[in-house]
Amino acid sequence: MTSERECYVYIVLPGETEFVTAGRFRVSETRRGSPLGEFVYGRRYLGRPDAVEFDPVELRLSDRLYETGRMKGFFGAIRDSMPDYWGRLLIEKHSGHARLEEFDYLMEGPDDRAGALGFGQDLEPPAPHRAFNATLDLARLQTAADAVMSGNPRLGGSLAAQAHELLLGGTSMGGARPKVVVQEDHVLWLAKFGQPDDRWNDPLVEHALLQLARKCGLNSADSRIERIGDRDVILVRRFDREWVGHGYHRHRVVSALTLLKSDAALTDRSRWSYLLLADELRRTSANPREDLRELFGRMCFNAATSNLDDHPRNHALLARGRDWRLSPAYDLTPSPMVSVERRDLAMICGPAGRLANRENLLGAAGRFLLDRNEAKSIFDRVSSVIRTTWHATMRRFGVTEKDCELIRGAFLYDGLFAEKKRVL
Ligand SMILES: Nc1ncnc2c1ncn2[C@@H]1O[C@H](COP(=O)(O)OP(=O)(O)O)[C@@H](O)[C@H]1O
Ligand SMILES: [Mg+2]
Repeated sequence: MTSERECYVYIVLPGETEFVTAGRFRVSETRRGSPLGEFVYGRRYLGRPDAVEFDPVELRLSDRLYETGRMKGFFGAIRDSMPDYWGRLLIEKHSGHARLEEFDYLMEGPDDRAGALGFGQDLEPPAPHRAFNATLDLARLQTAADAVMSGNPRLGGSLAAQAHELLLGGTSMGGARPKVVVQEDHVLWLAKFGQPDDRWNDPLVEHALLQLARKCGLNSADSRIERIGDRDVILVRRFDREWVGHGYHRHRVVSALTLLKSDAALTDRSRWSYLLLADELRRTSANPREDLRELFGRMCFNAATSNLDDHPRNHALLARGRDWRLSPAYDLTPSPMVSVERRDLAMICGPAGRLANRENLLGAAGRFLLDRNEAKSIFDRVSSVIRTTWHATMRRFGVTEKDCELIRGAFLYDGLFAEKKRVL
C-alpha cells in the first residue's frame, strides 16, 4: 500500500509574530516505491507583497509544483525544521514506538523548531508556541534528559512521562546532544546538557570555544553557563528568535546542507564543502564579501582547534528580515585526536580536500574573494590568538587544568603548519 501524508506549512513573516499559511507539503511513494516529496506555495500566500521564500536555493517563490526524491522526500528547508537524534529519541519514547515514519518526526515535535516554519493539519495556522520552560526548570529537565539518554526511568516515573515533560518544554531543535529550549526574561536559549560519559566538561569547553572564536574576530553565538547541581549546562542564545513586546519574531534559518542541496548521509559527502558553500554564499548572501571572509575565518578556526565536527548542519544561513546572511557560529567542539600528522575537517576546505592544513586553506582563498595575502593574514591572526590565549580562555571560563590537558592536543596540531611536500 502506498502511504501518503500531507500537511499545511505555515510561516512567521519578517516583522510578524504570528503564523500565516504558506503552502502544502506532501510525501508519497512513486510506483517504483521511492519517496516523493511535493510542495506548492499557496496562491494567497504568493499574492502577498510580504511573502518570502523558505530558502534561497530550492523552494524559491513560484507557483510551480516542487518535487524532490532526496532525503526521503523532505525538502531541505523542511528537513531543517525537524529534530535529529535527540529530538527523535524523545518523540519515540513519548509515543512508545521504537521507530516512526519520517513524517511523524515532523508533526510530533513541539513548535519550538529552528527557523520560521510551522506545520499542521488545519488550513488555519495555530497560535504561536508559548509553553516554554524557564531556566528555573533546568534541574528537573536535566534529570529527565539523563533518564531518557540512559533508558533508565527515575524511580516512580515512566520514560514516556519524562519524555512528555521534555517535549512540552520544547525540543524540536536538531543535533544529537540532549537539549531543551528555555526562556528567561523573554530571551530564548538552547540549553545543552553534559552527559555522564563526556570525556571532559563539554558545556564549559563549548562555551569557552565560542568565546575564543569571538576573540579571533569571528561572529559566534552568545552563550552562558548555568550550574545545575554539580554539573554545568551551556545556554546558547537563539539567534532565530527575538522578543518584540507581544511575541517573538521567528527568523528563517536554513542549514548549509540545504544550501548545498546535499544529503545528511555520511556516504554522500561529495558536496560537503566550504568551497561550494562559499560559491552559494556569493549568490545568496546580502553581503557576500563579509560573509565569505567570516566563513574563511571559521574554516581556519575549525582547523586550528580541531573542530572536526563542522558538518553542514553546523553551519547555517539566517534571514533576520528579507535578506539572507551567514548565521553566527555555533556547536564548536575540539577533537584532540591521536594523530598529529593529518586531520580532516568534515567539509572540503582547499585544493587538497578536507585536509586541515594552512597551505591547503590558503589555496582556497580565491573562492572566498580573498587574495592570498588577505587569507594569510586571517589565518595567521586566528592561529596566533589561539596560540596565545586558548589556555587562559579555557581557564577563565572555568575549564579545569585537567580538562585543558585532555583537550590541549586539539589546538594547533603539528600537521596544520606542515609544508606541501610533507603533506601531499
Ligand atoms: N544559537 C542558536 N540559535 C538558533 N538555532 C541554533 C543555535 N544553535 C544551534 N542551533 C540549531 O540547533 C541545532 C542543534 O544545535 P547544536 O549546537 O548543533 O547541537 P548538537 O551539539 O547536538 O549538534 C543546530 O543544528 C542548529 O540548527
Ligand atoms: Mg550540531
